[in-house]
Amino acid sequence: MNNFTYYNPTTIEFGKEKENKIGDYLEQSGIKKVLLLYGGGSIKKNGLYEKIIISLNKNNIEYVELSGVVSNPLLAKVNEGITLAKDNDIEAILGVGGGSVADSAKAIAAGAMYNGDVWDFFINKAKIIEALPVFTVMTLSATASEMNGNAVVMNEDTKQKYSIASVLLNPKISVINPELMATVSKEYLAYSAVDIISHCIELYFTASSHPHFNSRIVEAIIKTVMETTEILLDDPNDYDARAEFAWAAIQALNGLTPAGTEGGNFPNHMIEHALSAIYNVPHGAGLSVVIPAWMKWYEAQNSIQFKRFAKEIFNEEGSAQGIEKLESWFVKIGSPTTLKAANIPRENIEELAINANSLAIIWGIGKIYSKDTIVEILEKA
Ligand code: NZQ
Ligand code: ZN
Repeated sequence: MNNFTYYNPTTIEFGKEKENKIGDYLEQSGIKKVLLLYGGGSIKKNGLYEKIIISLNKNNIEYVELSGVVSNPLLAKVNEGITLAKDNDIEAILGVGGGSVADSAKAIAAGAMYNGDVWDFFINKAKIIEALPVFTVMTLSATASEMNGNAVVMNEDTKQKYSIASVLLNPKISVINPELMATVSKEYLAYSAVDIISHCIELYFTASSHPHFNSRIVEAIIKTVMETTEILLDDPNDYDARAEFAWAAIQALNGLTPAGTEGGNFPNHMIEHALSAIYNVPHGAGLSVVIPAWMKWYEAQNSIQFKRFAKEIFNEEGSAQGIEKLESWFVKIGSPTTLKAANIPRENIEELAINANSLAIIWGIGKIYSKDTIVEILEKA
């Protein structure tokens, strides 16, 4: 096992009705004024907005609102939030929604304490040294943004979907009430399941050393997500399935599974971000297109781990069967596995590969994932 530092400063408040206490949590953290950030209106339809406002008012927390964060969140909205935060002496950002809202909250938190262009952080032109505290009430479980310091934002002018990462951006407190997730559509439930599985398998397959303990955690997460997704597709209100799904999602990308591993990278995410950037496909839907293609391309480089995956997850003997079974499961839950199924024309593979390679360079894997290599992978999709 490799040396590592494990530090995660986020407090998770998990369980029924916890959202009613968000005002108390803010008050206990010494916050008196927040930017309340949310998406396209699901929180108004299901009554959550009302509950948040009651809790803020009860604790005399002032708020300025910003709505309209879209999936694959946009830089323009982040800049709007930064201006509001600076003009209104905002003390913290409260994001209420899914990963796109949480990520936008983090980018606003960093940008509000910086005098330059927030995009500087995304292109490694500046380092985050200060940020406003972030709080979240999650309505969708997939990204683990609720317990990590990552934020992914789309620059709509340059068509770059890039990320930032800093422990300063870890939410101080994230509220997870699985009941709030019962209204997530079946499509997004499927995309979320793919996303969680993808977070586990990136290092599982690419790390040069991946301890058995870490592999077992990954396998437990994948099995839990597969089981609970099937239960939830039948019964969206099954609380225990929803709760296990949400807790597994968090463990998949909160720093636990990489601890003690060596090397490795996130090639499926790197390629997927190009699909989202150019075709605005949901992140999980893009991943289910990329993953089977990437697996077929990569399998020979770590066939021992691919055999293990096939055996542990599907009780199959060969690598190819494991890949095939995963691909079939993506289809079964309703997530696309080909470019065609995601409405992405084959002729545009070159453009996708150029976009993905520019991110690969920023992530330090531009040599392994040249434009031509990415074309070769996408040809398999
Ligand atoms: O905007 P509203 O109306 O709220 O609708 C949202 C949105 O349309 C809806 N939704 C959320 N909760 C709901 C609900 N609808 C009904 N009931 C509820 N309870 O779901 C749609 C998708 O929401 P979004 O936040 O976009 O989904 P997700 O959580 O999957 O986030 C995806 C974004 O996160 C990034 C992705 O790239 C993508 O931009 N990622 C962030 C990561 C991180 N911070 O660590 C890592 C991931 O790998 C990922 O890249
Ligand atoms: Zn992801």
